Parts: sequence; C-alpha cells; structure tokens
Amino acid sequence: MALWGGRFSQAADNRFKHFNDSLCVDYRLAKHDIIGSIAWSKALLTVNVLTVVEQQKIENGLQELLSTVEADPEQILNSDAEDIHSWVEQHLIEKVGDLGKKLHTGRSRNDQVATDLKLWCVDEVHLLIHNINQLRQQLIITAEKYQTAVMPGYTHLQRAQPITFAHWCMAYFEMLTRDISRLNDTLKRMDSSPLGSGALAGTAYPIDRDMLANNLGFAIATNNSLDSVSDRDHVMELLTNATIGMNHLSRFAEDLIIFNSGEANFVELSDRVTSGSSLMPQKKNPDALELIRGKSGRVFGALTGVMMTFKGLPLAYNKDMQEDKAQLFDALDTWQECLSMAKLVLEDIKINEKTCLAAAKQGYANATELADYLVAKGVPFREAHHIVGEAVVGAIAKQKALEELTLTELQQYSSVIAEDVYQILSIESCLEKRCAKGGVSPAQVALAIKRAKNSFMD
Ligand code: ARG
Repeated sequence: MALWGGRFSQAADNRFKHFNDSLCVDYRLAKHDIIGSIAWSKALLTVNVLTVVEQQKIENGLQELLSTVEADPEQILNSDAEDIHSWVEQHLIEKVGDLGKKLHTGRSRNDQVATDLKLWCVDEVHLLIHNINQLRQQLIITAEKYQTAVMPGYTHLQRAQPITFAHWCMAYFEMLTRDISRLNDTLKRMDSSPLGSGALAGTAYPIDRDMLANNLGFAIATNNSLDSVSDRDHVMELLTNATIGMNHLSRFAEDLIIFNSGEANFVELSDRVTSGSSLMPQKKNPDALELIRGKSGRVFGALTGVMMTFKGLPLAYNKDMQEDKAQLFDALDTWQECLSMAKLVLEDIKINEKTCLAAAKQGYANATELADYLVAKGVPFREAHHIVGEAVVGAIAKQKALEELTLTELQQYSSVIAEDVYQILSIESCLEKRCAKGGVSPAQVALAIKRAKNSFMD
C-alpha cells in the first residue's frame, strides 16, 4: 500500500507505478534510511511525540530491520513498495504495529531522501579514498621495482626525453593524491544534515536539529529548509570528482595500451587481465585497460546527465530529482571498479627493460643535452637549438644516434664540441642532470617515493 492513499480513489496505473517507483535503485539506501529513522525517533522523543517506551520499541524494530537488510539487501527487491522510505516504514509497522505509523510525524520523504543520500555519500567517499589509497600503494611498489627502468618520455607521442618507469608511476601517484584531496574537500561541504527540514518549509516540531545532526555524525544542521530539500550539490561534486578521477585512470590506461602495443612492446600484461581473440590465436588483448578507458565515458555522461536534470528545476523538491541516484550509483560503482582493476593490472605488469632502454636511446632523446652542452660552452640557446637541429638531420641521414657520430662529424656543426660531449650524451647523464625537485634524476625519484611512503604515515 502506498503511503499517500487517502486522497486517491483510483489505484495507480501499473505502467505509471513502474515508471514512478524507485525501490529498484534506492534500496541501496536501506541502511541509511534506517539509521536516519532511528535518529528521528530520538528527536520525536525530545518533543514528546513518542514516549520513552514507544521510542525504544521503534528503535528495536528498526535495529532488527537493519540486521535483516545487512544480511541480505537484495530481499528488499521482492516488494512492491514505492521506494526505500515506504519499504522501511511498512516493515516497521509489520514489526511494531500501529506505533510504527507515528514515526513519520513532522518528517517528509523530501528531507528524508536528502539525508539518506548524504549519509550514503559520506560512506561511499570513505570507501573511495580507501580504494584510491590501495592503488597509490601499488604505484609505489611498482615504482620501487622499476627505478632503473629507462624508457622514452613523450610529447605529441614523439619520443622527447628519457624518463624511468618509476617516474611515470609517480606521476599517476600525484594525480591520485589530488583525487583524494578533492574528496576530502567535498566531505567538508557535505557535513551538514538536512533532516528536520520537512517537505520544504521546516518541521513544525521544536526539534533541536543541530543535536539531531550530531546524532547522525554530521557537524551541524543545514541553515535553510528550502535549500536543504533541493540541494544535490554533493551529488554533482562527487560526479565531478569521479569525472576527474576517471580522466586520470583513462589516461593511465591509454599510456599502458600504447606501451603494450606490438610497436612499442615496453610492457607485458599478465594473463589475468587480458583476453584472447576468438579468431586470431596469437592475440592477447589489453581488455582491462580498454574497459577502464571506455567506462570513463559513462562517468562523464552521468555528470552531464545530473547537471541537465537539475539546471531548470524550481525550488524545492521535484520528482525529477529521483533521477540523481541511478546515475550517481552507476558512476561511483564504475570508479570503484576501475580503481581496483588498475591496481590488478599493475600488480604483475612486467617491463621489458631492454626494449625500453633501446627505444629511449633512439629518437634523439638526448638532443636537448647537446644544446645545453653548447650553451655551457658559451653558445646562445637559440643558436644552439639550431645547430643541434642540423646535427640531428645529419645523424638521421647517416642512420646513427647522436652519440654514434664521430667527434669530427660532430665538429662540423660546431667547433666548440670536444671529447667530453660523449659523457653528456649518455642516458645516465640525461637522467642525472634533472635533479631539481620533481625531476627524473634517480635521486629525485627516490625522494618522491620516500615522500609518497611518508604520506601513509600521517
Ligand atoms: N524516491 C524519491 C526520490 O528519490 C523520494 C522522495 C519522494 N518525495 C515525494 N514527495 N514524492 O527522490
């Protein structure tokens, strides 16, 4: 039976009921709806709507319900209740009888759903932070293992300057650190409780809403009832965080897909995260990574979808708002899943160090070093850049690397070049020179790894 039957003489059309019901999505809020209801029953006690005995009975009934749904959340789906709020109320009434009908005094599903969803979001953010940290830890492990694995670094997908695989790992570590910091910011702004805002104008019972908020773990009650039931900023913020986070994971996936290509052959992915082709027996496809990249699309879509749903809504609650949850749940589930897949991929990735090193040596990745060398010998940088450009053209014509040119050959481009140039052109020197904070020198990368490890000690 619906919660609002009194005014209606006709039953809802089944097709409308199916269209309108949200239980199949919002059943995931069961725990939070029950916790919110227990706190509400305590608030009703303070304004004498419930006696001590009545409140205790209601609380016990709700606690029992909580254990049942925690043991098997899917059971909720075998019901024709309109939404999770109706479901909890119906089941409470089944347990404690007519007394259960008192629980909704002074409350509306509008402040209820706003509260439930905020509570859910807080829990979810903690889980997300945990999963991001798992991946950050894996990145440290992989970085430590491959501190000496030299590979080409790219700009415009052109080999640019040599880096190490460790430095690449630590770049993603930084992005994930920012993802966590964004989630923590969102948590701060989410720390207020809408409960007691009623349908839109506030509850008619003199409830201490700040105390109620504290009981639910929020710092404070929200300031304006109209805003409280309409506000889904936290949903939008979390979707924005998810969009940025998935952007990072998608680039991570794309980098590794390129490194794994037949052409690059820099990495080998484990059988655990790849699949074969039904036709071509030789194939081993990077499906886990492609799906991370692909699934980022639905997360970006959810952000746009929710923004579009809300942009024209008048205050306060409108049923359009029910559309927030399916998109939020799907986007955050996707983010969580992709985080653990990214970790799984890294767990037993193998770097083909010889191939990586050979590629780093090809492609004139040390051309900048030669320019810097000329600068150190007094040639202005613009001129040095030009000279090296010519030397590269000459080397390409001879199919040689810069360091393979003889001294006489090199001196054709500039007379200041001497024997000490070969030391400068070596990969080791390319790396070691970049020793300012954040650079690729082995010492800086070791420091970055140490800093990263320390961040887990705080
Ligand atoms: N299922 C609804 C939602 O998710 C709950 C709020 C319903 N409120 C109402 N007045 N119909 O938004």
